[in-house]
Amino acid sequence: MASEELSRDGPQRQEQTFEVRVEPLGRTFDAPESLTVLEAAGFANLHLPRMCRNGTCRTCLCKMTSGRVRYTVEWPGVSIEEKAEGYILPCVAIAQSDLVIEAPDAVDLPTPAPR
Ligand code: FES
Repeated sequence: MASEELSRDGPQRQEQTFEVRVEPLGRTFDAPESLTVLEAAGFANLHLPRMCRNGTCRTCLCKMTSGRVRYTVEWPGVSIEEKAEGYILPCVAIAQSDLVIEAPDAVDLPTPAPR
């Protein structure tokens, strides 16, 4: 559960960040509530398959073997059966716990050299 902090403007909810592990790469990255799993992966220099980025094309479809997500759209393109089997669409999914996802086509991008 998210913690709350009191301020002069009233209670403020602190953003939670969860850890996502991508298998079989074994790579982890932080996924804050303000980003989709796909966006958070990008900030961590990890490329996940994608096209539309709005939950319709299903290019990013992958299996979540552990964890919980919520969606930024009302009708993500995942069937009830797929949801029950753990499939998610990272482009419109927000981590609600630490996650483990199976994304065989994930690519670890080189980190830019410091200037
Ligand atoms: S990129 Fe199209 S559904 Fe995720």
